[in-house]
Amino acid sequence: MYDIFISYRRDGGFEMARLLYDRLHDMGLNVFFDLEELRSGKFNVKLFSAIDESANFLLVLPKDSLDRCKSEDDWLRIEIEYAIAKKKNIVPLMMNGFTWPSDLPETLKGLHLYNAVQMSREYLDASIERILSMCVNMAVKGGKKVSAEKDVREGNKYFTYDDKKERRRLNTQQNLMRSFDAPAYDKVKGRYEKLTVLDLGANTGEFIMDRLGTSENLEKLVGVEFDEKAVQYANATYGKAGKIAFFRLDLESETFYDDLRGIMDENGISSFNVINLSMVLLHLKHPYRLLKGLRGILSKDGTIIVKDIDDGMNMAYPDDDGIFAKAVDICNREELAGYRKSGRQVYTLLYRSGFKHITQERFGLSVAGMDSDERSALFDTYFSFILEDLRILREKYPDDKRIKADLEWYEDMYDDLEEKFQDDAFYFVLGFMLFTAQK
Ligand SMILES: C[S@@+](CC[C@H](N)C(=O)[O-])C[C@H]1O[C@@H](n2cnc3c(N)ncnc32)[C@H](O)[C@@H]1O
Repeated sequence: MYDIFISYRRDGGFEMARLLYDRLHDMGLNVFFDLEELRSGKFNVKLFSAIDESANFLLVLPKDSLDRCKSEDDWLRIEIEYAIAKKKNIVPLMMNGFTWPSDLPETLKGLHLYNAVQMSREYLDASIERILSMCVNMAVKGGKKVSAEKDVREGNKYFTYDDKKERRRLNTQQNLMRSFDAPAYDKVKGRYEKLTVLDLGANTGEFIMDRLGTSENLEKLVGVEFDEKAVQYANATYGKAGKIAFFRLDLESETFYDDLRGIMDENGISSFNVINLSMVLLHLKHPYRLLKGLRGILSKDGTIIVKDIDDGMNMAYPDDDGIFAKAVDICNREELAGYRKSGRQVYTLLYRSGFKHITQERFGLSVAGMDSDERSALFDTYFSFILEDLRILREKYPDDKRIKADLEWYEDMYDDLEEKFQDDAFYFVLGFMLFTAQK
């Protein structure tokens, strides 16, 4: 795989292309830059696969460089047409004296709509900086290539009650997840004569009410959620004096345990025998801190249930054009989706926080056996929320070129992704994980 393909015409473009190659290559980027042999004579098919393997297509444009594109067998034209057809992230680099010809062939007409960089020899560093900000699927920090994925946790209380689509997604996800996780909740439910439940990151309460809230042996249920409106909704819909109540608390605030103890005292609860964390750890910056404290409020024979996700577990087949891999990649770096390598940490986090008998109840949700409605729900669960997130991020960071490119690509490919996903022969596994552990 390449990060960047450099496309250039030898006359007038070679020197700049070479300079760029050297600088980008020194940063540790994988750059495809073919030397003269491939450039002379007939178009070389090797270039097609190199374009296929590159996320970004830098097009060096010296003065008059597109004039020869009138001819159908001009290789620069073929190269550009191929990059357009393959929806590559094209960045035109306009050198001194270059202007867009008025008589571009039909197939290249859209080219001038791509965001271009005005190249300046004098301010080459600034030009390169700008190019890097427009490239996708790669990142450079301090002059060196770094992983494009989020590799650190960030606290992220993304939920807003007003966001109807988000609520719809959580509902769809909940139904889909019922068959995945309900057996584990049933097992836990049957373990105790009386249930005292603490649900963390309860959202509007739908999830915990569905799994444990209507259980006959439920004695007390306390839900904790950051979003004020979600808490109001949960109390209005499910609240029951002396039995079920939801509270607004930040799991990561300094005073979290003091506040929680206060709530427990007021409600006559000394400990909980079930603590639930469903799709919450991935949104926390300090999961260890939280888990360690939870042991202290879990009863001696209590159970903690943790559901989380890890995108490293995702599998898509067939994915010849790499669109599923790219969609997952985008999810990995967009900040609202949480930390997508959280799932792999759950076992270790539980162990280090002192929990015993850690059991992996479920590992991966696959499309095998799903009907077309269920496939739709799974698609919706994962892929539609990426689109929503990108739209929110686009508004939040209007100048961010990467988000713009990701959103454009995603909107463009969405129907394609959905159609492929609906094919009965298409296999997909989503990295949901479910663990239980004891004190
Ligand atoms: C993906 S939702 C999961 C909701 C529910 N548990 C479920 O499985 O359907 C994550 C929830 O955790 C909440 N959350 C995230 N960070 C939080 C924090 N620091 N304190 C409290 N709630 C938080 C969000 O507001 C959101 O409602």
